[in-house]
Amino acid sequence: MKKILSLLACAALVGCSAKQETAVSDFDSIQQFTLKNKNGMIVKITNYGATITSIIVPDRDGNMADVALGYDSVEGYVNAIAREYLGAVVGRYGNRIAEGKFSIDGEEYELATNNGENHLHGGYMGFDKVVWTAEVVADGVKFSYLAKDGEEGYPGNLNLSVTYTLTDDNEIKMHYEATTDKPTIVNVTNHTYFNLAGEGSDSILDHVLQINGSKTTPVDAGLIPTGEFADVTGTPFDFRQPKVIGKDIDADDQQIEYGPGYDHNWVLDRQGDGMQLAATLSEPKSGRVMEVFTEEPCIQFYSGNFLAGNLTGKSGKVYKERSALCLETQHAPDSINHEGEAGWPSVILRPGEKYDTTTIYKFSTK
Ligand code: GLA
Repeated sequence: MKKILSLLACAALVGCSAKQETAVSDFDSIQQFTLKNKNGMIVKITNYGATITSIIVPDRDGNMADVALGYDSVEGYVNAIAREYLGAVVGRYGNRIAEGKFSIDGEEYELATNNGENHLHGGYMGFDKVVWTAEVVADGVKFSYLAKDGEEGYPGNLNLSVTYTLTDDNEIKMHYEATTDKPTIVNVTNHTYFNLAGEGSDSILDHVLQINGSKTTPVDAGLIPTGEFADVTGTPFDFRQPKVIGKDIDADDQQIEYGPGYDHNWVLDRQGDGMQLAATLSEPKSGRVMEVFTEEPCIQFYSGNFLAGNLTGKSGKVYKERSALCLETQHAPDSINHEGEAGWPSVILRPGEKYDTTTIYKFSTK
């Protein structure tokens, strides 16, 4: 495979300057990597938040477009007014933990409550807000980060890496690995916002989505799972057959009102462990298709309800409400507070164990 792998210093990207309110003391350590495959697909990733900044793929006629939301500068990411986690790896625990509280082996822990009364995406300085160490590997880049014992309230020194590779089958592979020196919780995922018509396009309501899950974990008004599982049959959450996203997004339904729209966790209908197709997204006009494969048990479909039009993206267009969506493979939100219950696989990582999980975004056209 022919691949151009280039490394840009921050200065080459933007006029960089350190800002007090961020934890980034060394802007020069921020790098961006460009992966390109034989089909001309391009993926850009920075070590700030191990963030995917760009995914450039063809439509059915071969026209290229960037389908991932992002900022045009490192400062955009670092100083994001709206904390939308564009393209980043989120964790140590992706999504919400009720009141930021949990216990492991009887030991209680308290995390930042950065989302109302709840904890979201790792807290104030989650993995999206730190500089990772980058290493070029075959066909990709490996980003590593040591999350210290007590960082954002989480126990244990967590040695984490995510390796991104781009294949000639137009797949972005994300391989997450972690170990710890104390029992802890881990649930990391990628938070790329997609619009298959190209970032900055108005809406994703015309995209067609299929999710291989017949159950969701319904939530309360704070988007914390109630602990129940709901059958999707006859509800706006039935995406077992491909469905236009706009069809039921404003349905008269309490779960939809809580979203508002889709911001829910689907339990995947798995045939055993291993990699399986979780979701297929397509955009009729361009013919672009994205399939999500994962080893994770669940997927969060977030329809960009909190994009508030206060964020201008890399091509100068304002990112409006529901102008992009996320498909975040994961363990269910707040799983640690359902530890041991049927249907809630454990999110505890213990010393000597290895967290090892892969998710793939695969692009094609039809
Ligand atoms: C996740 C959550 C949403 C929202 C976004 C970030 O997808 O489920 O509720 O917080 O992240 O805005």
